[in-house]
Amino acid sequence: MRRTQTLAKSRDDLADIEDEFAFSVIEGLSKARKVLPCRYFYDARGSELFEEITRQPEYYPTRTEARILEENADEIVENIGDGELLVEFGSGSSLKTEILLDRILPSVAYVPIDVSEAALADAKARLAKRYPVLDVRPIVANFSRAVTLPPDLGERRKTGFFPGSTIGNLSPREAEGLLAVFGKVIGKGGRLIIGVDLKKDPRILIDAYNDASGVTAAFNLNLLHRINRELGANFDPDDFRHEAVYDPQHGRIEMHLVSTSDHRVDICERSFRFKAGESIHTENSYKYTVEQFRDVACASGWDAQRVWIDAKRHFSVHELIWR
Ligand code: AVI
Repeated sequence: MRRTQTLAKSRDDLADIEDEFAFSVIEGLSKARKVLPCRYFYDARGSELFEEITRQPEYYPTRTEARILEENADEIVENIGDGELLVEFGSGSSLKTEILLDRILPSVAYVPIDVSEAALADAKARLAKRYPVLDVRPIVANFSRAVTLPPDLGERRKTGFFPGSTIGNLSPREAEGLLAVFGKVIGKGGRLIIGVDLKKDPRILIDAYNDASGVTAAFNLNLLHRINRELGANFDPDDFRHEAVYDPQHGRIEMHLVSTSDHRVDICERSFRFKAGESIHTENSYKYTVEQFRDVACASGWDAQRVWIDAKRHFSVHELIWR
């Protein structure tokens, strides 16, 4: 058996790790400033906790976006013509999509794209009951790569849908890349309806990511439980506390897991030392002004069209057209 190594110092040290999750964890914790990618929050428990976050009184984005979509749905869908295709990136349960589908049936076809086959199957079954004539064509895929649409649908004009301000979990540069990928899928003249969280009083932001019931803390700490369960690590989640801070320079909420003691954790035959006060940076959630987001969209190949914003100016829904 191999001896336990200390820190993995270069990519060569990681060459024997085939599992993508293990690779990312070891690589991230080997950095001088420890990081874990936020995409790993969403195991079964993490997805449940995220749903719970969206119901917390402090977490305004989900309900604010839903209200914007409800209140402006007729306008939002008015340019979606007969026979078009509605393509949703990272569709999950497709719940928000119903707000749009209610107004554009029956002539569109709907292509939900998600990595979770189970979520797509559930959504398809529910949508089949609610809209018996709707042509639903799920695609199991990671939306960050350009997806090939079913050949019989590919020629139609398309509208992409990317709600939830998931774009905020990428840096502006990464967001530009992802928007360009969406553009390739949607094609010239097609549109994108995208939800983007707005810059606001940092106290509102910090509360949204540090709810009084501790659901966001549990969501953050669940990452350590997942690493223990899936990679046989020995994190004691009680050795860490959840922290959410606003970084005004980057315009982002940062989530961290801060070590409360000096200790060591073993993962996949490697050891990682934590000092009291040292953090693992687990998530960024970028906030934009309308203009800042339009600049990112424009740099990626989209033209900004209309934008819908709630009365408190907390959240925005943008309409973009691919050049
Ligand atoms: C999924 N994403 C847009 C959420 C956000 O607000 O950045 C994830 C989240 N993290 C903590 N609370 C919610």
